[in-house]
Amino acid sequence: MTELTHPLATVPRDELVARAAADPLRPRFHFVSPAGWLNDPNGVSQWEGTYHLFYQYNPEGAFHHRILWGHATSTDLVTWKDQPVALSPGGPDSTDADGCWSGVLVNDAGTPTIVYSGRHGEHELPCVAIGSPDLLSWTKLPENPVIAAPPADVDITAYRDHCVWEEGGRWRQLVGSGIRGRGGTAFLYESTDLRTWEYLGPLCIGDSSRGARTDPDWTGTMWECVDLFRADGGAPGQLPDASGALGGAPSLLDGDSHVLVFSAWDDGVTHHPLYWTGRYSGDVFEPHALHRLDYGGRYFYAPQSFQDESGRRIMFGWLQEGREADTSVEAGWSGVMSLPRVVSPDSDGSLFFAPVPEIAALRREHVSVAPDVIAASASGPGAVTGVSGLQLDLELELELDPGAVVRLGVLETRDADGTAIEQTAVELSREDASDSNGAGSSHGTLRLDRTRSSLEGGVDTDSREGPVPMPGGRVSLRVIVDRSAVEIFANGKPLTARVYPRLGGGGISLDATEGTTRVVRFDAWTMGEIFGSERLLFP
Ligand code: FRU
Repeated sequence: MTELTHPLATVPRDELVARAAADPLRPRFHFVSPAGWLNDPNGVSQWEGTYHLFYQYNPEGAFHHRILWGHATSTDLVTWKDQPVALSPGGPDSTDADGCWSGVLVNDAGTPTIVYSGRHGEHELPCVAIGSPDLLSWTKLPENPVIAAPPADVDITAYRDHCVWEEGGRWRQLVGSGIRGRGGTAFLYESTDLRTWEYLGPLCIGDSSRGARTDPDWTGTMWECVDLFRADGGAPGQLPDASGALGGAPSLLDGDSHVLVFSAWDDGVTHHPLYWTGRYSGDVFEPHALHRLDYGGRYFYAPQSFQDESGRRIMFGWLQEGREADTSVEAGWSGVMSLPRVVSPDSDGSLFFAPVPEIAALRREHVSVAPDVIAASASGPGAVTGVSGLQLDLELELELDPGAVVRLGVLETRDADGTAIEQTAVELSREDASDSNGAGSSHGTLRLDRTRSSLEGGVDTDSREGPVPMPGGRVSLRVIVDRSAVEIFANGKPLTARVYPRLGGGGISLDATEGTTRVVRFDAWTMGEIFGSERLLFP
């Protein structure tokens, strides 16, 4: 038996991988760490064709402590190969003695370079590590930290996480922070060599006095994991294409629009990811509109994105746990990486999110449910679909009448009378009001009802919801279920959450609970697994 080194480490290290693999609630086609703890995606990138995903990793157990950078690579964004740990905390006197916290990977004229937050005691400072040409071994710069202290004369709440890009022959960097009594912020720096940085000022400052702490778009007292990119997917320093226009659907976002993503944090509490759309020019970002990035809130936290070689903006997020910390520790694992998402401008001036199309490679058995019209009065117990499974990809095209509400139940177990005793319900509702032309409302709501998701105690069962554009009542709904991980996309608006059904049922139902809904198309696939053989805690 290996030694337990941390008071929270109740599971011996050499048992962690087996414990994690044996948990039926562990996702099978989302990326997860070999065992132990995973949080933020880091250094997400494509390098000479290969995708790289680094992540906040504690192989000692399923709790957050003395974080390393785990590493995995992929050639298809679907299957992942574990690679050796990229960064580990240094000796007691080093800047990162207590953890290698979040950061990014950039291409410094052919040299892979990581900019990350080194943690020492209760503080973090920017550090740099240089990679071998294959990105498998990393050497920290002797001059770390590369920025000695946060800006002087500013009373900050915290200071960490990085967004780095090239612009006009120089490097620019954002470091997430917050100004006490004002709000979250991102400090802007400039450099010629990634080693010496000049402070330029705050890029943009939030207002933490606006709204209540419980609001789903409260901007927090600190911004974690800031990520700036062009609305067309490019890096902030790139020029728009010659036409200045965005490809695809006409959008309120134009060729000069930018997006500033951050995760709203307050005094140790991870609230939710948000983004501003606006304009970055000179040394400031002028915000135009604030948006929720994922209606699941903290269940899609600390997102980080990159532009791949084909020009797509691809984003990963951390799906935090929603069960008690002790349960995760005993299970030997914690944390799931989202499926990669393509981010593009939507016609309403916000962003449109969709899982990368590559994910379809994991589809196995296909069932097509016949088109139907379902009405509230006629609906029975609703176990109608003939589809079931714990790993599923569902695609529906629906048309809701004004005032209609439709519920798709997944991960269901029913008793002998057909009553669902466990069920996770995805609910869509269309507003009743008519617009001035007498046409029905083009607004609706996506809601995830977890009140019956689990018979287990100590599990988060709060509902989540957010607005969805529904022109003509039409909704393209995609629901991806991977045991305890659920990712939902309704007309490009995501809602991600975790659920912990105890009975292991994979039933699916579709019910009209108000009004009438046309089911134009309903395709379902079971999904394969991405990790075949036993994984190593230290690959
Ligand atoms: C976000 C975060 C980052 C930090 C990292 C530490 O979840 O708190 O701000 O760098 O996680 O693991």
